Amino acid sequence: MHSSIGLKLMMAVSGLYFVFFVLFHMYGNLKILASHEAFDTYAHHLRTMFEPILPYEGFLWIFRLTLIIALAAHVYSALTLWSRANTARGAKYEVKKAAAASLSSKWMRWGGIALILFVLFHLAQFTLLWINVGGYRGTPAERVVLAFQQPWLVLIYVIALLALAMHLRHGVWSACQTLGWTNTANSRRYANLAGVAISAITVIGFLIPPLAILFGVIQ
Ligand code: HEM
Repeated sequence: MHSSIGLKLMMAVSGLYFVFFVLFHMYGNLKILASHEAFDTYAHHLRTMFEPILPYEGFLWIFRLTLIIALAAHVYSALTLWSRANTARGAKYEVKKAAAASLSSKWMRWGGIALILFVLFHLAQFTLLWINVGGYRGTPAERVVLAFQQPWLVLIYVIALLALAMHLRHGVWSACQTLGWTNTANSRRYANLAGVAISAITVIGFLIPPLAILFGVIQ
């Protein structure tokens, strides 16, 4: 049994770890703007990093493990906090502020579920290679280019990235609040700005490669 503040801290720290991950992943994806080779070399280095101290894909698996732990912590703390909030909320508990707060937490809930579904689809597509969009399964760069030549796939990614933008925008603000960085008017302004900036940078950065491919800038 964890205290609510402990759970909020768990959610904030695991969430900030995801912020680091998405920024890192977005940066890696942008290498496709340089060339197919730059992207493929990057994908290859992710697997050979720290060899021979670690085996092939050793670092990648350690990193994947940290992501799985962060996801477990994030989902566990979210579910526990929500079930506590539901129990605490009486039948007649209907003040405006609580309704507004629960609206944004509802968005976080459904947005979070949508993101998990997207990540499962995404892993099936690019990591497990179970879903093969666009035909030929060649190098990582070729797979990405062939896939995003399909407008319907780009649409799925645009929708997922909008969900990510909303989740990041509110999540960064909530994490700042939990960490005590919203106590003054000035710090609230910065926390708000951080949420907007991180979500905008991530989403624009992720959208550049699929849109560049769709419109033929990258072939
Ligand atoms: C346009 C946007 C995106 C593109 C083009 C893209 C592309 C890729 C590619 C090519 C891989 C396979 C990497 C490899 O095995 O070398 C991958 C893996 C992955 N992506 Fe994305 N991605 C995008 C957005 C996202 C987003 C928004 C998330 C999370 C919210 C995400 C989460 C992941 C995860 C968890 C992996 C697995 C990493 C691993 O192998 O352990 N991706 N992505």
